[in-house]
Amino acid sequence: MKTLALYFHIPFCNGKKCDYCNFVSYVDKDAQMEKYVDALIKEIKLRGEKEGKEYKISSVYFGGGTPSVLKPGMITNIMIAIKQNFKLLQNVEITIECNPETATEDKLREYLIAGINRISFGVQTINDKILNLIGRRHNSKQAKEAIMLAKKVGFKNISVDMMLGLPKQTLGDVKKMTKFLIKSGVNHVSAYSLILEKGTVLYDKVKVGALSVPSEDDTVEMYNLVYDLLSKAGLKRYEVSNFAMLDYESKHNQNYWKLGEYLAFGIGGHSYMNDTRFANTDDFDKYIKSIEENTFPIVMVEKLSLTMRREEAIMLELRTREGLNIEEFDDKFGGHILRDKKKEIEFLSSKGFISLRNGYIKVSENAYYVLNSIIMKLI
Ligand SMILES: C[S@@+](CC[C@H](N)C(=O)[O-])C[C@H]1O[C@@H](n2cnc3c(N)ncnc32)[C@H](O)[C@@H]1O
Ligand code: SF4
Repeated sequence: MKTLALYFHIPFCNGKKCDYCNFVSYVDKDAQMEKYVDALIKEIKLRGEKEGKEYKISSVYFGGGTPSVLKPGMITNIMIAIKQNFKLLQNVEITIECNPETATEDKLREYLIAGINRISFGVQTINDKILNLIGRRHNSKQAKEAIMLAKKVGFKNISVDMMLGLPKQTLGDVKKMTKFLIKSGVNHVSAYSLILEKGTVLYDKVKVGALSVPSEDDTVEMYNLVYDLLSKAGLKRYEVSNFAMLDYESKHNQNYWKLGEYLAFGIGGHSYMNDTRFANTDDFDKYIKSIEENTFPIVMVEKLSLTMRREEAIMLELRTREGLNIEEFDDKFGGHILRDKKKEIEFLSSKGFISLRNGYIKVSENAYYVLNSIIMKLI
């Protein structure tokens, strides 16, 4: 039976949007949470009738927004609907994103009992001045307490998001944060370089010169420091932004990078099944109305051609530690990449940017900063 990953978008945040964020989430729709959860449960049932028999579920991911702002019992009800309508693999990975200031013992226990076995905290930095500057609602003390609490209630699989290239951030801050993560015993870290998104408060502040962010070179230096410290502590990089202890690599992420099939629920959810991408509306009211009328709220459908899938595979697989499996790639897409891209591969190898080993094309550890150029050459 084929496997499938499920994603649930929870578009609510705690009172105020962070200054850098342009994810689909609302801070003024708490009164409609119940309606939204009801719609999600109905979407699960509708999808279950269609896809529930054909697939086994390898991973489930509650992302946002801030899933941990949902009221007690809501995540449990969604989990019940998932279990009733889909077959979960025995070793299914089930993750919830959680903001530190919303983590209470009761909530974390509820998640565990509901079957969630992985928690991902958005900490970003433990410098309180910077947290304040980027509009986060937690401080370093709350972040530390949340991680301890998750361990105490019994989570074995804990991930933390950190951000690099934040205003006023120094190498020293990044070192402190990374060392804190190592000491706290988390087994997965995602390190994202800040993207200044148009339409966000931070974008505007930087544009008018009210704030500045570290240069690209400084951010690369921060990233290299994180890489060095985490690697030495056993948290190995398995994708550009993701580091994990052995066997704690996220199955859900890996499925995306291997171009596996995934189905997204809720507003703005993007899915990929049967070589086709499709997306739900990101309009809250239209989503609810469409589900109430028993129709999927789909606003975009795109069938990927063989060439598009081939390019996508190069782009995604080269980001991973494993690299691109040459035999599998040739089988899937026809052709012969070593022959078709002979000149380019020879050039990239001679520069030390890639290596060919055990049937894989791999980007060298120190060449990730030119990853995009490498990908462009091989596409
Ligand atoms: C979609 S957010 C949701 C998680 C959760 N609400 C939180 O903020 O902690 C997931 C992660 O994306 C990263 N992120 C969000 N906006 C970003 C941006 N503009 N640039 C880089 N990373 C970003 C943050 O590290 C965040 O933890
Ligand atoms: S970063 Fe997370 S908490 Fe902040 S606004 Fe975005 S989704 Fe909400």
